[in-house]
Amino acid sequence: MALDELLAWLPPGSPEEALARQVNFEQLPAHIAIIMDGNGRWASRRHLPRVEGHRAGINAVRDVVETSARLGVEVLTLFAFSTENWKRPEAEVSMLMALLKRYLRIELGTLLQNNIRFRVIGRVQDLAPDIQQELADAEARTAANTGLLFNIALNYSGRTEITDAVRRMIESGVSPREVTEQRVSDFLYTAGQPDPDLLIRTSGEMRVSNFLLWQIAYAEIWVTDTFWPDFRARHLLDGILEFQKRDRRYGGLKPSRVATLR
Ligand code: IPE
Ligand code: IPE
Ligand code: MG
Repeated sequence: MALDELLAWLPPGSPEEALARQVNFEQLPAHIAIIMDGNGRWASRRHLPRVEGHRAGINAVRDVVETSARLGVEVLTLFAFSTENWKRPEAEVSMLMALLKRYLRIELGTLLQNNIRFRVIGRVQDLAPDIQQELADAEARTAANTGLLFNIALNYSGRTEITDAVRRMIESGVSPREVTEQRVSDFLYTAGQPDPDLLIRTSGEMRVSNFLLWQIAYAEIWVTDTFWPDFRARHLLDGILEFQKRDRRYGGLKPSRVATLR
């Protein structure tokens, strides 16, 4: 079913179609998390200001969100703005916020059409009131959707998330005996969601930059040199196919290896 939905959307005879046919839909990552990186470098290669890279990055977001929804992925989390990104020039930060607002206005229809539920993770309370309003509106209008859960990480930091979770646990009177891994997970922004199976980072950087530190404990990591504004359905499919070749052991042994040891 998911293959049909995807094929109906991909250009017939395209490289995307060939990739989609190789995907094993029984083994899809339930949660894909993406560190969208390389907008600035994409722009400077073209002798454009950095903000043009951010603007172009919106096309990648649109493509990846819709492809994930059609694939039948449960959760997609995109890292859009880190707590550390406030260190950037004010003009760049306000342009990023303005682009976010525009994205939400333009794309809300697509989210609704594709049964996508939109959620924000991060310290939303520190964003400008108009942005908060826009985000809350998009969350409310898509709250009843039952398809892809699309998390956008905004003013997000993994360490802050864990610190906030610890504080809230103490405030809610959780006793030391009740502190388990499950209980900690329940206090994170992603409570109730599966952990990412696949973590993608674009632009070739080999670091996690404070993203979902707790949740990526056993994620498979795939780094592509492609800059975010160039990232499309075919790159996502490449990442999924690579993920499906991995041997996830979670510290144990492959079942075939266990058999030979018996
Ligand atoms: C990612 O692209 C977007 C954000 C972090 C908001 P960058 O702006 O980090 O682009 P590079 O890494 O400088 O190329
Ligand atoms: C990570 O990218 C944050 C986002 C994608 C929002 P950065 O470009 O901010 O990360 P560093 O500075 O290269 O680690
Ligand atoms: Mg960067």
